[in-house]
Amino acid sequence: PTVAAIIPAAGSGSRMKLDHPKQYHQLAGTPILIHTIRAFYHHPAIGRTVVVVPAEWLEKTREMLAEHGLSGDTLTVVAGGQRRQDSVMAGLRVLDHDTEVVLVHDGARPLVSADLITRSAKAVHKHGAAIAAVPVKDTLKRGDKTCRITATIDRNNLWQAQTPQGAKLSLLFSAFETAGEMDVTDEAMLLEHAGIPVMLVEGEETNLKITRPEDLPLAESIMQQKTA
Ligand code: C5P
Repeated sequence: PTVAAIIPAAGSGSRMKLDHPKQYHQLAGTPILIHTIRAFYHHPAIGRTVVVVPAEWLEKTREMLAEHGLSGDTLTVVAGGQRRQDSVMAGLRVLDHDTEVVLVHDGARPLVSADLITRSAKAVHKHGAAIAAVPVKDTLKRGDKTCRITATIDRNNLWQAQTPQGAKLSLLFSAFETAGEMDVTDEAMLLEHAGIPVMLVEGEETNLKITRPEDLPLAESIMQQKTA
């Protein structure tokens, strides 16, 4: 397989105030993470999918995948680490050496379309590294600790990062090496830090990251519209 997907889903999801990680919460009757995995597992351009989960969820996740008919050599589940980047690294370690391109996609973004996956993979093939993002549409303010505005930030040329984001495997490995212990919130930051150009790919407003409880009904209504 030349294009692999890594799905980091090893976060605790504490902002959701649930007793289990948010990626296991049901969305339209199926766990969020299953929706996300399906998008990559069934995508013709993706040869291998690696799902990274909390160590204590390994067995349960494997059972859940089997229940949903997701199985075979092209799907692997591994345990994640402390930080998101540690989880992604755990996924990278199990990839075959003939992997050319890696797409990393948040476990908590179940609404990604097949088209966005295709365009992300193409952009990485063409440019070496890419990230899905949408142009910022709101006016942005910087505030101080007392909530007083200190600046209005020009939103021209500003983008909100989503996933998939990815790179050629060799570039991603060298970015991880260069980064050392630096803390990042996404893989594009690692690449940028290593001086590797990363291209923006037009993402989708519907590709939301389920973070707060109120995101669930919104995600369900987007799903209904897609299947209608
Ligand atoms: O915290 P945030 O929502 O930005 O996390 C993005 C993704 O990274 C989530 O899918 C989360 O499960 C994953 N993650 C991880 N390992 C961690 C922390 C977050 O796989 N240690």
